[in-house]
Amino acid sequence: MEQFIMKGGNPLVGEVTIGGAKNAALGILAAAIMTDENVVIDNLPDVRDINVMLEAIQEIGAHVDRIDRHTVKINASHIKEVSVDDEFIRKIRASYYFIGALLGKYKSAEVPLPGGCNIGSRPIDQHLKGFRALGAKVDVVRGAVVAHAIDLVGSHIYLDVVSVGATINVMMAAALAEGTTILENVAKEPHVVDVANFLNSMGANIKGAGTDVIRIRGVERLHGTEYSVIPDQIEAGTFMCAAAITRGDVMIKNVIPKHLEAISAKLLEVGCEVIEFDDAVRVVGKPKQRPTNIKTLPYPGFPTDMQPQIAVTLALAEGTSMVTESIFENRFKYVDELARMGSNIKVEGNVAVIDGVRGFTGAQVEAPDLRAGAALVIAGLAAEGYTVVDEIGYIQRGYECFEEKLQGLGAVIEKVDSEKDAKKFRLKIG
Ligand code: EPZ
Repeated sequence: MEQFIMKGGNPLVGEVTIGGAKNAALGILAAAIMTDENVVIDNLPDVRDINVMLEAIQEIGAHVDRIDRHTVKINASHIKEVSVDDEFIRKIRASYYFIGALLGKYKSAEVPLPGGCNIGSRPIDQHLKGFRALGAKVDVVRGAVVAHAIDLVGSHIYLDVVSVGATINVMMAAALAEGTTILENVAKEPHVVDVANFLNSMGANIKGAGTDVIRIRGVERLHGTEYSVIPDQIEAGTFMCAAAITRGDVMIKNVIPKHLEAISAKLLEVGCEVIEFDDAVRVVGKPKQRPTNIKTLPYPGFPTDMQPQIAVTLALAEGTSMVTESIFENRFKYVDELARMGSNIKVEGNVAVIDGVRGFTGAQVEAPDLRAGAALVIAGLAAEGYTVVDEIGYIQRGYECFEEKLQGLGAVIEKVDSEKDAKKFRLKIG
């Protein structure tokens, strides 16, 4: 069983380069099967969720050529199956994007209900509402979404909940519907905009992505394209918090600073220095950091995917902070793990009241999900002594070479897969 083992206490110092955005890439990969022509996608992160998505794309009959670690060529002219295989796709949340992509292209899709991180109940009713509004008959049959349409026809759709997944999914199907779709109350996350830009580069006619209303004029067909995925806002934010919590000084390169504004604002409030460059941001932690209050919200609010990382940072500030989770109800599972390291956090409903402590002490902890797992790692880097993080498969779903990037900043961390290797690490480090 793989684990991360680390000895904390070193401020992280240096430069780190951020990869492509996982959550944008997942939508883009699904959308890539909507044309019969070649699509080349660059700046893909080499992480588990992306690799599962690529396997699923191959499984339904598309050709996937891995040109290099971060570039693939996809040709979906040979898709035979509008039914996506369970084995691969149940593992990831973004499997739901096959419904929109296949329904748009073939007017038919059969996709198991999605898996993914256990961070809340995560319904997909808004996705299904959107497909139905476009004229599809949609049923859930034996654990799968079965959607068929004779014709998809543009419609005026108001999403009752601001949802990244529903916005992208309905946008994909509508791109190949007849006539115009107006999608209201949509998500504005950078990855929504990136998927819209990708579809437009394939000949779609989508306007307004990044605002509350998206207008999609359906086109008859989509064509091939070459596209580079945007940098990962959450990977960048995680390294920003790693710099803050270890009182380090890190230049985070290959980012879009605008996407990081909510995170930068909060780190400034706690007293860090945050310096923006054209495509980089530098975070300098301070010995004494202040508490603050945070509420997770859809973009441009503070991202739920950064809630655990900022909370562990606040757990080492001087004073009491309140963190309110308003997107997913089950995203405080790391709190019990962090308590083993000496934190003082009480959760009541969707609010965590964090009393800052002077320091953490290393402990053996378990990653409960992707972002919480990353947060425990950065907490371990700020702790005195050794920390072991179990269940790192979650972390590998979304962070490429996490331990190597941290080592590059001076962290004493290693991935081990046996007790013997863990012992060796302790002996080597002393
Ligand atoms: C995406 O999930 C991301 N996943 C999540 O990233 C991220 O946490 C989330 O957006 C919010 O930013 C991918 O992009 C693959 P939502 P998604 O639909 O699309 C409710 C990570 O760590 N809702 O925006 O599933 C829902 O319950 C992950 O990388 C409905 O009620 O999230 C939630 O409260 C984890 N009905 C809220 O909306 C629906 O039909 C937002 O969910 C859909 C959603």
